[in-house]
Amino acid sequence: MAEFGNAEQILVGEGDSDYERYLRTPELLSLQPEPDSWVHRDELLFTVTHQSSELWLKLAVSEIEYSLEKIRERNFAAAVRLLKRVNSCIAYCTQQLGILEQLTPWEYQKVRLALGHGSGFDSPGFRAIRRVIPRLGFEFDNALKSEAISLEELFIDFENHEGLFQLAEALIDVDELLMAWRAVHFRVVERTIGLEVKGTQGTPVEVVGGIRDKQAFPDLWQVRSELTRRADKELRTD
Ligand code: HEM
Repeated sequence: MAEFGNAEQILVGEGDSDYERYLRTPELLSLQPEPDSWVHRDELLFTVTHQSSELWLKLAVSEIEYSLEKIRERNFAAAVRLLKRVNSCIAYCTQQLGILEQLTPWEYQKVRLALGHGSGFDSPGFRAIRRVIPRLGFEFDNALKSEAISLEELFIDFENHEGLFQLAEALIDVDELLMAWRAVHFRVVERTIGLEVKGTQGTPVEVVGGIRDKQAFPDLWQVRSELTRRADKELRTD
């Protein structure tokens, strides 16, 4: 785009342009198996979807870590803003699962030959998510204590605790989106390799189905039941 000036490339690094040098595209685009080593050409589809999920999860974890700082500072609005990004990252991972259903079961069996004993349980992104999520619950509980309010009261008197209430809702969004990812992933697994079989590390597929609705923040789900029981006593007349 020399006609607009500033066409001179000023960054150092590999690649012809500052775009390539900053984003390290030569390195990035060499991280997928090349045709000469493919056991099947869908290794590219499989690798791109998994690698991009790892990148989105890397961003999600970084945003969670910063949101933890904001919760500790009692800056709930900032924490919610960051958690919205986390939720987008998880939703993108779920959307990406869709293209894997365009991998036919037999094609996947060929791709699988290249995977060794690689298993999603060893995904660095999901492992990091599992590591940081309990810290969110811990900091949220501390914030409740410092506002001297119970979770049930927060859900009734939310107008006087808007920031903390919005944080509670952002956290349950994270939980719901992780459940949605697991539900869609389980269907992709069923559609691709079936149910009564084992994964590449020997895990029965039923195990993946069994953890679909695992709750990261059980108290935030439980409080809904408590509100219903309370409403039965205090609000209903029938
Ligand atoms: C054709 C697509 C896919 C198939 C057939 C598949 C298959 C499986 C199977 C069989 C398991 C059980 C563990 C084992 O491998 O033995 C598993 C677990 C897992 N996979 Fe996948 N997977 C696919 C795509 C993905 C993608 C795109 C991701 C994103 C990183 C992913 C992440 C995970 C995770 C995190 C687990 C642990 C269980 C959980 O947290 O729900 N998988 N997968």
